[in-house]
Amino acid sequence: MHLRATGQHQVAPEVMRPIMEVENVDVYYGDFRAVSEVNLDFGLNEITALIGPSGCGKSTILRSLNRMNDLIEGARVEGEIRFHGENIYGKDVDPIEVRRRIGMVFQKPNPFPKSIYDNIAYGPRVTGMKVQSMDDLVEDSLTRAALWDEVKDKLKQSALGLSGGQQQRLCIARAISVRPDVILMDEPCASLDPIATMRIEDLMQELREHYTIVIVTHNMQQAARVADRTAFFTAQPSEGNGDRTGLLVEYGTTAQIFEDPQDKRTEDYISGRFG
Ligand SMILES: Nc1ncnc2c1ncn2[C@@H]1O[C@H](COP(=O)(O)OP(=O)(O)OP(=O)(O)O)[C@@H](O)[C@H]1O
Ligand SMILES: [Mg+2]
Repeated sequence: MHLRATGQHQVAPEVMRPIMEVENVDVYYGDFRAVSEVNLDFGLNEITALIGPSGCGKSTILRSLNRMNDLIEGARVEGEIRFHGENIYGKDVDPIEVRRRIGMVFQKPNPFPKSIYDNIAYGPRVTGMKVQSMDDLVEDSLTRAALWDEVKDKLKQSALGLSGGQQQRLCIARAISVRPDVILMDEPCASLDPIATMRIEDLMQELREHYTIVIVTHNMQQAARVADRTAFFTAQPSEGNGDRTGLLVEYGTTAQIFEDPQDKRTEDYISGRFG
């Protein structure tokens, strides 16, 4: 089986240049341990896909990578997550700055009810970014997100008037506008048609030159097409109370995970024999 359509990236089995390192991470919601003992490195300028069945903790792990879980009542992260070597849960770390450097794009496009221009300018304004020309920054962000040509004549119009696929690219442009290093995407194409999905996948390939991307996807072909590495998670009943806890089963290059899975659970999942 060869699912990997874009086989042009040769990546080493080990992450040689990690930009983020997840070490012994457990995430709890109250007393419930949602994921357990995750160890995972994300390579600089690579795309990493997180896959696995519903409820295995993909979104939970993704949100812990930029302290988005802080905003959820009762959520708690144990272990260490390092970004450029620094623990993002450290005492003196500003979570707002973490989220600026590590941006996020959600499943459902969520533009602000503002103009296209103001959606992009918002982040730089509220973070007090030094900007020589806001017009240039807006154009640059929209160009990088492959949306400029479609919106350049209606920048003052409401972002809510855009199509779903355009809104999602706007959200990517908005994430880019504050100059992050990493972009987290939680099922970014789940509400898009195949053409809009293809555009986002192409865009991800372009963005990987400048950014590191972590994407959660339920679409196996998408992981195979876009990701350099893939991490497979599953949820298993834990000893004791029988709650299902998410765990990382296998992590490797996308080619290895799809063509030569080492764990039976990975093999069953990618070949559609799961659940
Ligand atoms: N805000 C929350 N409060 C309490 N429990 C939560 C919360 N968010 C997620 N959980 C629980 O944590 C576990 C992992 O959920 P998570 O949303 O991370 O899974 P997922 O892999 O992203 O699933 P899906 O593929 O359906 O999006 C689940 O058991 C879920 O019920
Ligand atoms: Mg999820």
